[in-house]
Amino acid sequence: MTDASAALYRRAAVHVPGGVHSDTRFAQPHPRYFVRAEGAHVWDADGVRWLDCTMGNGSVLLGHAHPDVDAAVTGAVRDGLTTGLETPAAVSAVERLAAIVPDFGQVRFANTGTEAVMHALAIARHVTGRQRVAKAEGAYHGWFDPVWVSTWPTADQLGPQSRPGVPPSSAGLSAVTADTVVVPFNDLDATAALLREHADELAALVVEPVLIDIGYVPATSAYLRGLRELTDELGIVLVFDELLTGFRLAPGGAREVYGVVPDLTTYGKALGNGYPIAAVEGRRELMATTDPVGGPVGWVGTYNGHGSAVAAADASLAVLATGESQAYLDKLLGTLRDGFAELSARYSIPVVLAGAGGHFQPYFLTGPAGSYREAMRTDAERYATLRAAAERHHILLPGKPLLHAALSTAHTDDDVSALLAAAEEAFAQLSEST
Ligand SMILES: Cc1ncc(COP(=O)(O)O)c(C=O)c1O
Repeated sequence: MTDASAALYRRAAVHVPGGVHSDTRFAQPHPRYFVRAEGAHVWDADGVRWLDCTMGNGSVLLGHAHPDVDAAVTGAVRDGLTTGLETPAAVSAVERLAAIVPDFGQVRFANTGTEAVMHALAIARHVTGRQRVAKAEGAYHGWFDPVWVSTWPTADQLGPQSRPGVPPSSAGLSAVTADTVVVPFNDLDATAALLREHADELAALVVEPVLIDIGYVPATSAYLRGLRELTDELGIVLVFDELLTGFRLAPGGAREVYGVVPDLTTYGKALGNGYPIAAVEGRRELMATTDPVGGPVGWVGTYNGHGSAVAAADASLAVLATGESQAYLDKLLGTLRDGFAELSARYSIPVVLAGAGGHFQPYFLTGPAGSYREAMRTDAERYATLRAAAERHHILLPGKPLLHAALSTAHTDDDVSALLAAAEEAFAQLSEST
């Protein structure tokens, strides 16, 4: 029964294109509307309980309505402080961040990951006096002009491996082809050649240490170390986008795992366990360019450091700092990985369950993906069969075959078993049809 969602969609679509406020929420025949969330579950408008394996696009690491986060946010609401003023919670959240991120410099808050990347690029352009930006093929860094390029490119947009195409991911962007250089992820030689060729024009290289918006494609250590050396040599600001790796791979994020420290880092998502807060952290001399006293790079925003968002971040970071959440998520993921491996062998359906820190992606491939080009070879129809089986079991998985599913610390072994039971149904179906 989806009567209530269908009715809501009919009402919403009168005034809202597609009836949704973010394209990725759209679904056929209509999107679902949700009324409540708790722990690992969400309830739709028809009263159906779903096991949520999307978790706010990966942001709700601690589970929906986490008691500590809820208490902090309701406390902030009771105090009446919304926005436009600084609060002790913001000070405390920053101190917690400084304690868990290795080689922490300075930080400022924004609201969304997109804004954080915009701020990072403004700093990079100012300090280098250069305009252009490099990013990896297939990576997503938000929806503004120079980086909303080459995200989920189609096969005909790829171009040569050593010189990937620069396809805009939306209409209405400014001259992205002139602003952006797309580099092939995990191909250090080709990346080096492109960075050297454009060194005089490049302000920044923005890179996600693991491409999680296309599932889970980790950089090799050699690639990240190589990027650090190259950008140092060429005077390009190295920006790590840790929106999704941040706090999931380790309390100190990918930087802690890889031992590579960038010039600037963007955080968001798990930082506020679902509340809208993001941050840019970076070397002191870079962040000083945004100092209200004498720093020429502006940093403003009505909602920056919003009372409820900083309260959420303060409470979330207190939990994330211990490392227990990350260890628990890796244990759950281990069980899921073993389960998929067993199903793969039993039904002779090749699948690689990639992931860490609770992010996971079943790739219907024979081996792990090291780049967007490899990841996009996943069998989309097989993924659709898996997703349909999950849906029959009232489990939410991402709609696209190249996106990331996510567990939270509210998920249990029983939830993993439920997901594996749905997967078994899908694998049986797939093996019958091969
Ligand atoms: C790696 C990465 N960077 C940036 C963004 C943009 O963040 P936001 O949606 O908060 O603007 C996202 C969002 O999905 C992301 O996954």
